[in-house]
Amino acid sequence: MRTPIIAGNWKMYKTPREAVSFVQELKTAVAGVQDVEILVCPAFPALLPLSVVLADTNIKLGAQNMHWEPEGAYTGEVSAEMLREIGCTYVILGHSERRQYFGETDTKVSKKARSALDDGLVPIICVGETIDERKAGETQTVIQRQVRGCLNGLRAGEVAGLVMAYEPVWAIGTGLTASPGDAQEVNALIRHLIGELYDRATAASVRIQYGGSVKPGNAATLMSQPDIDGALVGGASLKVADFTRIIKATVETLKPWS
Ligand code: PGA
Repeated sequence: MRTPIIAGNWKMYKTPREAVSFVQELKTAVAGVQDVEILVCPAFPALLPLSVVLADTNIKLGAQNMHWEPEGAYTGEVSAEMLREIGCTYVILGHSERRQYFGETDTKVSKKARSALDDGLVPIICVGETIDERKAGETQTVIQRQVRGCLNGLRAGEVAGLVMAYEPVWAIGTGLTASPGDAQEVNALIRHLIGELYDRATAASVRIQYGGSVKPGNAATLMSQPDIDGALVGGASLKVADFTRIIKATVETLKPWS
């Protein structure tokens, strides 16, 4: 049984002070929630103050990016070890905004994933097609290329423990969501490909999120899909009430009678 993971990707929103007051509210709102992993991924300056507030809560901390080298002359970058030392357990890699604006490629993602795993961070690896690629019928090819490229060099045991996120680029921040059926189809494709690249046990244990305009109103149907193991949430993770509703909707989908 895979534990769903609901992650908030705050992008370049919330100052450290705003982030602290957000999680103080959130930790009360989700106190006692079990069976769903809860994660917030603030901008770098908020990580350290949040790690203090989140100690001994059911909310985990992740970063939105990192460098692949353990240290060095890389002005403006941070390493996996630095992130782990201040309390991060996850790191988002290959988000489409990083691919679009900062030259992130599958090769860089695979190097970052290697480094994250070596330092004990769990990568959340994002893949997704653009609207042009979808219209051209290239969704499968693009996803397969990205998954192969990003996982290059990783071992089965490592892949089994990481998180993939299918985020169609056209659904991010647009209010357009992949239909539950379309999202399920791509998530199943990713799982199938991981089964081919590794083995069935690895495919069965890797968690695959969906991301792209996940909101309280569509979370339950998306999260009920058999191959969707949680969500990477942008806009709706910036409001405590919305993020909490998404988390609670996911918990509801786990009830045997639902
Ligand atoms: P969105 O962002 O929920 O605002 O569409 C998702 C993401 O970028 O991870």
